[in-house]
Amino acid sequence: MTRPARMHDVTDETRHIVDLVLNYSRQRLLTDDNPLDKPLPPAELARLAGVTINEKGIGAQKALGVFEHVLAPACITTDDPRYLSFIPSAPSKAAAAFDLVVSASALYGGSWLEGAGAVHAENEVLRWLAGEFGLPATAGGVFVQGGTLGNLSALVAARETARERGIRPDRWRVVCSAEAHSSIASAARVMDVEVVTVAPDAGGVLHGDAVRTALEEHGDSVFAVVATAGSTNFGIVDDIASVAEVTRELGVWLHVDGAYGLAAALSPEARHYFAGLEHADSLIVDPHKWLFAPFDACALLYRDPELGRRAHTQHAEYLDTLTETSDWSPSDFAAHLTRRARGLPLWFSLATYGAEVYREAITASITLAEQIAAEIESRDELELVRRPQLSVVVFERRGWDKADYTTWSNRLLDDQHAFVTPSSHGGRTNARFAILNPRTRFEDLVGILDTMR
Ligand SMILES: Cc1ncc(COP(=O)(O)O)c(C=O)c1O
Repeated sequence: MTRPARMHDVTDETRHIVDLVLNYSRQRLLTDDNPLDKPLPPAELARLAGVTINEKGIGAQKALGVFEHVLAPACITTDDPRYLSFIPSAPSKAAAAFDLVVSASALYGGSWLEGAGAVHAENEVLRWLAGEFGLPATAGGVFVQGGTLGNLSALVAARETARERGIRPDRWRVVCSAEAHSSIASAARVMDVEVVTVAPDAGGVLHGDAVRTALEEHGDSVFAVVATAGSTNFGIVDDIASVAEVTRELGVWLHVDGAYGLAAALSPEARHYFAGLEHADSLIVDPHKWLFAPFDACALLYRDPELGRRAHTQHAEYLDTLTETSDWSPSDFAAHLTRRARGLPLWFSLATYGAEVYREAITASITLAEQIAAEIESRDELELVRRPQLSVVVFERRGWDKADYTTWSNRLLDDQHAFVTPSSHGGRTNARFAILNPRTRFEDLVGILDTMR
């Protein structure tokens, strides 16, 4: 028999485990040429990893060895400067390192009673972001797991607010651009509401006049309009000012989905794209995307946090001691209860480096996107699909079909050169660079273009 507290007592075994893990983490954080890596087929992984869970355990050294030599190499390094697919992640060293502190400190981030210090620091970040986005000082919210949950939580609060105003339509509706992120449709499915998609202009920008037409058609069944501040496919920002003019006139909640792109509002070069943002009733931005925090974190902000609290607070006998106070408990502002203090890595990184270098890093990616777009335009075999606004560059290789892009993309990864997956627009396959890692260089991107000749 082993002692039940073996896993919790501080013993020589514990010291050994902690040393192993911290040494590994230290090395990972201080190496700047970690391989790109790639997935393996399930059967091969199973064979290489072997059985790791049994009654007696295999020991920390062996388990860490499996992680280091089998599991980690089968995970693509998302902070590699040549990871350009989807939306990459590039945590600052301070943010990534502090994530260890968050785990080591056994913090509970759900309530003021249990986590006041952590909640204070998270709220300082949220207040700072609100200020950057032009929201009033009374705005507030919470860090949730990701943009999908952030969008869902904001839309739930929007519908609840419409309900509280006595609106009772046969079917609730949310209006967004046809180029809005798939998480809006996902939220609508969860909420059992209808999505009314509105066509953006040819450049992918949603404007107020198109939103007005949809609102006039569907009346007060529309509980929210979603403007996208940086579409995932193209990094295009909707015309928030004209959309906000309409939502304010008609009294409809405006939610701004800036999961990827809203970070660019910190850049003096890009701030103008976000005019009208100050009218948002709610918004999200994901620090695990372009704010250099580790997975997973989405900052959800409400203009009037009380509306979020009314929609989301869970009531239960054992929770009354938390909810019968006016304390600021992050659990109350989204569809969740138990939560990690996931805003702390961003807090530590911002406190460490200051905001200026964030602005510079974000601006640098926008500039790099412009430079590589110009390079693409200068090459006969390539064609830019749309001029980039932020840091997503989409282009086609003349004469290629889907299979050509797939073969090319697979080869890039097999050669450990880069991770660039094909995308598509209007039924045509294309290639897409999502640039946000400050270590991505022009030469890296040119080297990838050269493989398309
Ligand atoms: C515009 C936009 N909204 C929402 C999301 C969803 O965010 P998450 O993946 O964190 O759930 C994304 C993800 O890329 C996004 O780009």
